[in-house]
This record gives sequence, C-alpha cells and structure tokens, in this order.
Amino acid sequence: MTEQLTFIVYASRAAEPFDHDDLVALLSQSRVNNSRDGITGMLVYRDLDFIQILEGPDAAVRALLERIGRDPRHTDVRVLLDEQTTERKYAAWSMGYEPTAPGDGSDGAVDALRTADDDATTRESADALGGWFHGRAGGSTDRPAPVSRG
Ligand SMILES: Cc1cc2nc3c(=O)[nH]c(=O)nc-3n(C[C@H](O)[C@H](O)[C@H](O)COP(=O)(O)O)c2cc1C
Repeated sequence: MTEQLTFIVYASRAAEPFDHDDLVALLSQSRVNNSRDGITGMLVYRDLDFIQILEGPDAAVRALLERIGRDPRHTDVRVLLDEQTTERKYAAWSMGYEPTAPGDGSDGAVDALRTADDDATTRESADALGGWFHGRAGGSTDRPAPVSRG
C-alpha cells in the first residue's frame, strides 16, 4: 500500500543563537517525538536561520507544525512548501542534521530557499539542499549528536 504523506519545508529565525548544546537538546527531543509520530526529515541551521523539512502522515505533521509555531526558541516561521507525496526523501532520519560551514554548498541552497517566490523554485532549492544533505550524511542515519565544528 502506498503511504500518503505531507511534505513541508519551512524557514524560521532563531530567537537567540543556538550553540552546540542547544542543538543537541533540540535534536534529541525531535528524534524521540518524530520516531513516535512517523515523521522524518532534516534540519539546517546557519547564522540564526533554520530550514526544516518534515514528511509524514498529514495529521502528525500538522500537529508538529503547530507546536513548532508556538516554540519561543524561534520566530518568523514561514511555510515555504506544503505538498502531498507518496515517497519519503529522508526515510533514514527521524531528524537529520549536518553542520553547515561557509562555502560548503549549503549557503546557495539556503539563500535560494529563503528568497524563492514560487513553488517550482522552492522545490528546486529544497532538492538542492537535500542533495547537499544526502552528500554529507552519506548512508548514515541520525547521528547521536551533531558534530561540532570549529
Ligand atoms: C527549529 C525547530 C525545529 C523543531 N523540530 C521539531 C521536530 O522535528 N519534532 C519535534 O517533536 N519538535 C520539534 N521542535 C520542538 C517543538 O517546537 C516543541 O518544543 C516540541 O515538539 C514539544 O514536544 P514535547 O512534547 O517533547 O515537549 C522544534 C523546535 C524548533 C525551534
């Protein structure tokens, strides 16, 4: 049976800079909840900007989005893409995370996503960011904690 899935991409701004420990706490909380709720996806954080991709059963994704929208750790939550699909792009990750670094290829995709003004461009930029993520993550599943760089 094919799975009917909701695929969401949103952008937000951290209220305060997230350090390594903040990210570890956020990821461990997210991974416990998402595994329970059948949600997969990935999170990118760069210079206060968050981009998150969520995929899963519609009701679970919408309930999560509502919690996320109320979370004081970030503001300006903007849904960039809200689509129906039948295939997971992040099946191995309850919430994947790869640290970004200047010039590592994530910058262009994050900027393109934040400024995209139509669905086609947003989808293309989300795919580009997904390509960057999959290239970095390789075959691995959720890392126990984000790797700290610098
Ligand atoms: C940028 C960002 C991304 C988040 N992503 C998730 C997520 O993927 N899953 C999740 O359960 N909570 C996520 N949260 C946390 C939720 O906003 C909320 O605090 C949490 O779901 C509450 O769950 P609890 O029942 O464990 O307290 C995120 C928060 C932020 C700021």
